[in-house]
Amino acid sequence: MSSTTPITDLREEILALKRERNAIILAHNYQQGAIQDLADYVGDSLGLSYKASEAEADVIAFCGVHFMAETAKIVNPTKTVVLPDKDAGCSLEESCPGDKLEAFLSENADKNYYVIAYINCSAHVKALSDCICTSGNAVKIVEAAPEDRPILFVPDQNLGAWVMEQTGRKMDLWQGSCYVHVEFTRDSIAKIREEHPDAELIAHPECTYAVRMLADVVCSTEKMVHYAKASKAENLIVATEAGMLHRLRKEAPDKNFIEAPTDHCACAECRFMKMNTLEKLRDCLRDLEPELVMDEELRARAEKPILRMLELSR
Ligand code: 13P
Ligand code: SF4
Repeated sequence: MSSTTPITDLREEILALKRERNAIILAHNYQQGAIQDLADYVGDSLGLSYKASEAEADVIAFCGVHFMAETAKIVNPTKTVVLPDKDAGCSLEESCPGDKLEAFLSENADKNYYVIAYINCSAHVKALSDCICTSGNAVKIVEAAPEDRPILFVPDQNLGAWVMEQTGRKMDLWQGSCYVHVEFTRDSIAKIREEHPDAELIAHPECTYAVRMLADVVCSTEKMVHYAKASKAENLIVATEAGMLHRLRKEAPDKNFIEAPTDHCACAECRFMKMNTLEKLRDCLRDLEPELVMDEELRARAEKPILRMLELSR
């Protein structure tokens, strides 16, 4: 069937394939609305990790980016994990290649670093880490780190800096960043706030210090949903990837959500998250590929720090 298949037919095809394959569809909050609407579960990286680890279906179709599908395979290795587009990467993952981290750790072996890796990284980086965190539990994970060891936080310098502000714990930060969130600037946010003076500003911790300073709340995508529901504000400006607005509008229909602009664009889109389409989701359920296949030794090493995180943040 061609890529011009009407959306209702595509939805029907996907649901039929899902039943046939005994599959579950997991989707990140940044996925396009049509994918979110079909998914069995939509959430942030933390919620998705729990869902993936508990999944009983034979097949997990993971609509997000590569490291998220890889995490699903690591925590639930007997399942077939497929993803709509295997090239859906992440600039944070790219900013910290496993071999560079390995070299850094061996050059600094005398420091005896406790390595905390943001989940936005490769299995290789996870395997070199002591504990994984997400934006939803980073504060808790850093607070639980041994006090007698220096922390190396990889790969996101902005999330790391925000966690230092929250916990008062000093850490050495890998200099990676999310190419989407660093596009919000003090000026682009100040401008939209001027246009909506009564609105609250919600920002993701991957944003820079200048933007976090202007925010009413800094939190993970899932916590944005809870915050928006409980907020008394009618208007909320959201400084994160634009797909989040679909989820927020569904969960809190009484609120007015405004996309925070960047200096160049009216909203911010992650080109990796947007590589997934309904057609590609249909195809991966039909063909059972691209499939996430992992070397067992690497998988087992990468699993330990993820399980530590899941245990600590229960
Ligand atoms: P969350 O875990 O908050 O959903 O963030 C994931 C992500 O990739 C943010 O850019
Ligand atoms: Fe990675 Fe940024 Fe895209 Fe999230 S929004 S997947 S951190 S590039």
